[in-house]
Amino acid sequence: MRFKSVLLITFFVGVTYGNDPRWKDCKDTFCARLRRHSTVPYSVDLGSLKIDEKTNKVLAILNPETKNGKKLMLTLSLLEEEIFHISIDQEQPSTPPRYKARDALIENGEKFNTAKPNITKGNATAYVKYKNLNVTIYANPMKFEFYDNNRLFSVVNPNNRFIFETDNENNQVAIGLDISFKDAQRAYGLPEHADHLALRNTSKEEPYRHFNLDYGSYEIESTQALYGAIGVLYAHGNNYSSGAFWLNAAQTWIDITNGPNQVDAYFMSESGVLDLFILPGPTLPHAVKQYTKLTGTAPLPQYFTLGYHQSRYSYMTQDEVVKVVTKFDENSFPIDVMWLDIDYTNEKRYFTWDPKRFSNPEKLISNLTETNRKLVAIIDPHIKVDDKYFVHQNATKEHYYIKNSAGKDFQGECWPGLSSYLDFLNPKAREYYSKLYLDHHFENKNVHVWNDMNEPSVFNRLKDENTMPLDALHYRGYKHRDVHNMYGFYQTIGTRTGMLQRKDKLRPFILTRSHFAGTQRYAAIWTGDNLARWDYLKISFPMCLTEALAGVSFCGADVGGFGEKPDDELYQRWYQAGAWLPFYRGHSANDVPRREPYLYGKDIQQRVRAALRQRYAHLPIWYTLFYEHEQTGEPVIRPITYHYPKESEAFDVENQVLVGRNILAAPVLEKGVTKYKVYLPGGDNEIWYNIDENYTPYHGNGSHLLTVNNDSVPVFYKAGSIIPRKDTPRPTSVHMHQDPYTLYIVLNAKREAEGKLYVDDGGSLSYQQKKFYYGNFVYKNYSLTVVNLRNDTSYSDVAPIGNLVIINPPNGIKGVQKTENNTIIELSNVYSSKYNVLFVNNFTAQFQNGLEIKFITLPSSVSSLTLSGTLIAVLFSVVYNM
Ligand code: GLC
Repeated sequence: MRFKSVLLITFFVGVTYGNDPRWKDCKDTFCARLRRHSTVPYSVDLGSLKIDEKTNKVLAILNPETKNGKKLMLTLSLLEEEIFHISIDQEQPSTPPRYKARDALIENGEKFNTAKPNITKGNATAYVKYKNLNVTIYANPMKFEFYDNNRLFSVVNPNNRFIFETDNENNQVAIGLDISFKDAQRAYGLPEHADHLALRNTSKEEPYRHFNLDYGSYEIESTQALYGAIGVLYAHGNNYSSGAFWLNAAQTWIDITNGPNQVDAYFMSESGVLDLFILPGPTLPHAVKQYTKLTGTAPLPQYFTLGYHQSRYSYMTQDEVVKVVTKFDENSFPIDVMWLDIDYTNEKRYFTWDPKRFSNPEKLISNLTETNRKLVAIIDPHIKVDDKYFVHQNATKEHYYIKNSAGKDFQGECWPGLSSYLDFLNPKAREYYSKLYLDHHFENKNVHVWNDMNEPSVFNRLKDENTMPLDALHYRGYKHRDVHNMYGFYQTIGTRTGMLQRKDKLRPFILTRSHFAGTQRYAAIWTGDNLARWDYLKISFPMCLTEALAGVSFCGADVGGFGEKPDDELYQRWYQAGAWLPFYRGHSANDVPRREPYLYGKDIQQRVRAALRQRYAHLPIWYTLFYEHEQTGEPVIRPITYHYPKESEAFDVENQVLVGRNILAAPVLEKGVTKYKVYLPGGDNEIWYNIDENYTPYHGNGSHLLTVNNDSVPVFYKAGSIIPRKDTPRPTSVHMHQDPYTLYIVLNAKREAEGKLYVDDGGSLSYQQKKFYYGNFVYKNYSLTVVNLRNDTSYSDVAPIGNLVIINPPNGIKGVQKTENNTIIELSNVYSSKYNVLFVNNFTAQFQNGLEIKFITLPSSVSSLTLSGTLIAVLFSVVYNM
């Protein structure tokens, strides 16, 4: 939402969020109570410690050391041979039982394999041994040490700060626990915060806060809560990385202490059970994969979702929407998706359309469909209180709303005025809601969904930080305080369930603002209501990198900034940079001037066009990475340190991203610069080619100062990689499906390279029935071949290769030959000595059933040319088509 400018002005004149009346500090919440505690009131009853033969879980009673404490039950297990799980709950459950956020886990966490341990008990300790992973339990003071091959990597409750409150009457049911991680120099994770990649030491500051809030124009470099809450923390170091996942749906605060060689975290949650997973690593990629084993990966999105999206709060008529697309086409800006913000509805009644301004939604959808465009429409969780509105009627009658503490349907203000809120925790309400997507034009295969305001946002409730009061009541009698951070998550489950039932059976696309652990299984996210300022552009990179480490790769920021007006320089830089985050959408508030790219001067237009085309050229690799993410849990974008942990200087590099392993994008995020610092990893022997400077090679030996101008977008390909691209500019990604690939083959010192490509129909679920192609291109010994990585799959519609750009080719190439059906065909090629690039252009090579292109050093009938000067410029522009 937009806040009044008066508030904004006060807010940005150098005040810390601690002074912002909108949001609570630790001291204003249960956090103060927990932060003060220092002694543990519980010990492990070793006599009770045993293995449950059915589940392989280790069980033990925890005894209170104080008179009025209640006994607790500890459960310890090893999941999937590699992830420790500790849960602590009351031995005698309360009514309702304390809330468990299990829906965040794949199949509610029920299906994980648990390994069987050996237990040895002493007087004061117990040893729980698995194959390589062991736990030592100390009874009093209670402490758990975690070992990987006899190396201590993590300690739970090292400082005796475990708290488990059980005073239901006074709402004192908080839990707290400290965890330390050895051999770690940095802490990452715990999104969502508008803060740096490496978490700060909070001992003298506010702890990081998880309490999903509609915090428009948020302060940056802040530990304050934002729209999402994911409790995964990584402790990362040169030699070892591990992590922990704190699973709790209630408001949570986390203190971080970052010592020289150790990370300490203290988690405090307002209610619920203690549900903790220890991720042993031993590297950051291992720890991230362990986390995604628990909470899942994002299903492969449709191809078009990786193209450009154009949004505005709001396009006010359906003609306007179509006109914007026409203008994009007239000015040769590619675009795949148009967005409808709240004003398309009939006075903010979701699942209705304004009778005048959007009188014919079928026509709008078919107009967009004619040019291969898609539509995304917003659906918020609040429902207008209006006796004549069918959703309100049904929800009231069937008791689908959240209740207030007196048991009546809760009512609060939001966009429609007085509203009630669907209780998405109630499976029946969720089912009803999901069916709404099978009608009201949402059943159309080209319509997709944006779930916003789902923290949930409730206007004019300053005392509740503009969200639902904590004592509001949900399904099965849970208080809002128990489930707050999962509210939006449950909405997206309902949305996806509905969309999956549509008859066209295409992959649903959902964007959500509120998010939680596991959201990646249902929706993409964006970083909410940012501002058109350089700092917001800059922070969007660490924000999305942190989300990616926390399982949510599909992340982006409003390009151009939501609030305020970007100047021309910021505007174009944002388009250049946004092209290198996974979700690429221009969006702006209702009180700022329109800013579609065609409204700008020629130079700006040209730069935005180049940025969009660069994005579209790389769609094959984005899509391949999303496929690999679904399969393996590897994030689509990664911080440099993810692959280069030995380089301490890379720990804090956060304004550039690795797109997969082979592309390093370092778009310029600073105003008015002519020199720009870029960090290139890997050491002297790793070579990175700057595609922005005609493939100039750089060593991966740390920081380089590049000379840049307004056109510059530093992007590097790693030596040894093959990047499949589609370089012909087209209006949409759909038009590109059959376009030939250009392979960028970047040879390393051994004159070798390889790179993967995933292809399917781009939209249906048939890839789940093995209808896809997944191959690996290999260049070695003067020859380019392809290995089909999945011989059990089939997809016949793979576009051919049409061009090769060989960077750093072997010396003395005299000819290039393609072998097809036992016939040898000579391919024409030109070599640029100035840039050390060999171009092999305009041929057709089908490669699904094998490929061989040979590079010959002997004289051949087709002569190869050596070019320089202007001809090179022409060739580059042919290849780039920019
Ligand atoms: C919220 C969203 C913003 C949207 C507006 C109106 O502020 O964050 O993106 O435009 O609501 O729906």
